[in-house]
Amino acid sequence: MGTLLPQAGAPALPPLLDPRIARVIRATPDRLHALVAEHGSPLNIVWPHAVADTVERMREALATEGVDYEIFYGAKVNKSRALVRAAVAAGTGIDVSSLAECEDALRASADPARLCATGPAKTRPFLRRLVAVGALVAVDSLEELDDLGGCTREGGPARVLLRYRPDSAARSRFGMGRGAIREALRRLAREDAPFAFEGFHLHLSGYDVESRVAAMAEVAGLVDEAVALRLPVRLIDIGGGLPVRYVDPDTYANALARQGPEHYQTGRVPAEFYPYGSPLTAAEWIAGFLRAPCRGGTIAGYLRSMGLRLAIEPGRSLVDQAAISLFRVTRTKPLGEGRGVVFVEGSSFSACETWFASEFLVDPILLPAAPEGREGPGLRAFIAGHSCLDGDVITHRLLEFGTAPRPGDLLLHANTAGYQMDLLENEFHRHPMPARLVATPSSDAGFVFARD
Ligand SMILES: Cc1ncc(COP(=O)(O)O)c(C=O)c1O
Repeated sequence: MGTLLPQAGAPALPPLLDPRIARVIRATPDRLHALVAEHGSPLNIVWPHAVADTVERMREALATEGVDYEIFYGAKVNKSRALVRAAVAAGTGIDVSSLAECEDALRASADPARLCATGPAKTRPFLRRLVAVGALVAVDSLEELDDLGGCTREGGPARVLLRYRPDSAARSRFGMGRGAIREALRRLAREDAPFAFEGFHLHLSGYDVESRVAAMAEVAGLVDEAVALRLPVRLIDIGGGLPVRYVDPDTYANALARQGPEHYQTGRVPAEFYPYGSPLTAAEWIAGFLRAPCRGGTIAGYLRSMGLRLAIEPGRSLVDQAAISLFRVTRTKPLGEGRGVVFVEGSSFSACETWFASEFLVDPILLPAAPEGREGPGLRAFIAGHSCLDGDVITHRLLEFGTAPRPGDLLLHANTAGYQMDLLENEFHRHPMPARLVATPSSDAGFVFARD
């Protein structure tokens, strides 16, 4: 497989692969070709077995520090119901951000009491449903608290977390600053308040541990204020943002150091990338957070001493390795100056990092339609979708293919479950929506594939 990855030129960034998925790619690439022939290009395949493995590693990291915990799968990262079912089967609760996600989670037999509703502007029907099923609601504003109170008449008290806006995110539109949190606490403490207060919630963009540690110290102060109002706190939910390691960290650091404008067909290196070669795994991130200082001890010690449960809402990191996306090559075209373009059937709406002015810094794997007789000139090329939009580019990076891709070959993007496959998908040019298949382990240690 190694020789089929882009070589030299733009620094190579081979994907880390789940061993069972790697076996399928290596041993039966013809199977993947047959699936694309049957279901069309692009084709997304989800691999739910990866979810259970990841949950287990997160659990171990949490249990090692002796804290009570709850894991809510951030179901927004992928539309697959099979992945929601896999998370429920692995014992997680679900973080839902819409009525549709909530219904999906309930259909997947999630315990309604272990749903946590996040997102900034929940609709009334969503709030009503959450109250009716007894889900936890992370309240984003005082206005939302009022709305939620209005939904409690039939459903009993609403279970509330208050979403705090940490100092490091002072300009964010999400959550409440200290002043609004204090006002919310006063409202929750009223005798006739139709609420059951359970604790605090936050979510920060970025993937560093330090900003969460700082936020935790701020939340500890709010816990004291709540307790002073006789509002016992049960849970602190620090949201998502746990890292994913797509490529080897050293390879990634080297590639970042070596890459330059000449490696991009735009002549520009994007300003920002997701940290694809994270130095920390998600489990190490959890351990680092829990061992960080807090009130003279560690965060784990603080949580234990206060009888607090820690919740996390991993989205991207929970579906690490849980999908691949396959694109069929339609043609290649030389563009002069030693560069070309590989057109694929499908569009960058299905592999959308370039729409966020960034790049998916993970190399695709070329699966030739006919591996024999592949000697021939190489190709330095970027990858574009088949649409007429100039911006329909899957990767602006100029990849060095040892031998040029040919029509009918497949480009396999690994590890696409987290926001990389179905976030912007649509039927532009009336091209059908990409099919999504579920790979289920079979008795012979292989997989069977069916529609999601
Ligand atoms: C409130 C909340 N929780 C969890 C997540 C999941 O984050 P990630 O996919 O980075 O783990 C998000 C993502 O935007 C979020 O807004």
